[in-house]
Amino acid sequence: MEIITSVEKLMDVAVRERAAGKRIGMVPTMGALHEGHLSLIRRAHEENDVVFCSIFVNPVQFNNAEDLEKYPRTLEADVQLIGDQADYVFAPSVEEVFPVKPTEVYDFGTVANVMEGAARPGHFNGVGVIVRRLLEWTRPHKAYFGEKDYQQIAVIREMCRQCRILTEVVPCPIIREPNGLAMSSRNRRLSAHEFETAANIHRILEASRQCTSVAATKAFVETEIAKIPEFQLDYFEIADAETLLSTDDIHNPHGVMGFITVYVGPVRLIDNITY
Ligand code: PAJ
Repeated sequence: MEIITSVEKLMDVAVRERAAGKRIGMVPTMGALHEGHLSLIRRAHEENDVVFCSIFVNPVQFNNAEDLEKYPRTLEADVQLIGDQADYVFAPSVEEVFPVKPTEVYDFGTVANVMEGAARPGHFNGVGVIVRRLLEWTRPHKAYFGEKDYQQIAVIREMCRQCRILTEVVPCPIIREPNGLAMSSRNRRLSAHEFETAANIHRILEASRQCTSVAATKAFVETEIAKIPEFQLDYFEIADAETLLSTDDIHNPHGVMGFITVYVGPVRLIDNITY
């Protein structure tokens, strides 16, 4: 595996691999890798000849300075974890990616305006800015994203549609801790007690499956979350799995999902469930 820090080198290598007829897989990450990320990298390794993994804490997608500052940065350990599952790790500096502050403003429509889009203004614009650059520089056949960030996948698909990026976006299932908590780089900021308590998010979502209507499901989840003193609910929405618009119909033919964001102490965690 080779570590690349310059965009010029990245483009060079990617062009060469493509010209040699290789199928290219790409896994964008912000590092502090865990089994969730590694599942994407392994899948990319299985399905492609050459795998690029990017590790870049993208400042333009953070709408909270403290979250950006506290975001774990563990490049050496990340490189060890990736081992031979990727051929190239792209780990650039902020100046390399953004020689000037990016000014692109996208309109990704409703998928980017609800839930995380409403709660974190500018976040999905920043995701679009970085993922577009990564995909244009690398031109992968396939790019891999986790369903933990389900809405992010919808936004990236829309970005690819608008920018005519032909990469296939491959969604991958959520990987969980043994206690059910969705793996996340932010979990490292939880105390041992908070880590155990945070497992209730998934437990409550699973239990909410027995509810027979959208209203009952919402009431159940909100009540159960409120019972846990360490939790502060940001939102719980039940939405159409395709449009991400909230729905009152638990039998919606596109599929219905629950999307939750909870603060556990200062740490903001997200999760989702398919009904
Ligand atoms: P990051 O949070 O590092 O996540 C990188 C990828 O790993 C994303 O596609 C995310 O959905 C996936 N992932 C994270 N936790 C997962 C889990 N428990 N199970 C399965 N997949 C998981 O998402 C980002 O970075 C950034 O927004 C990025 C796309 C890299 C753009 O900066």
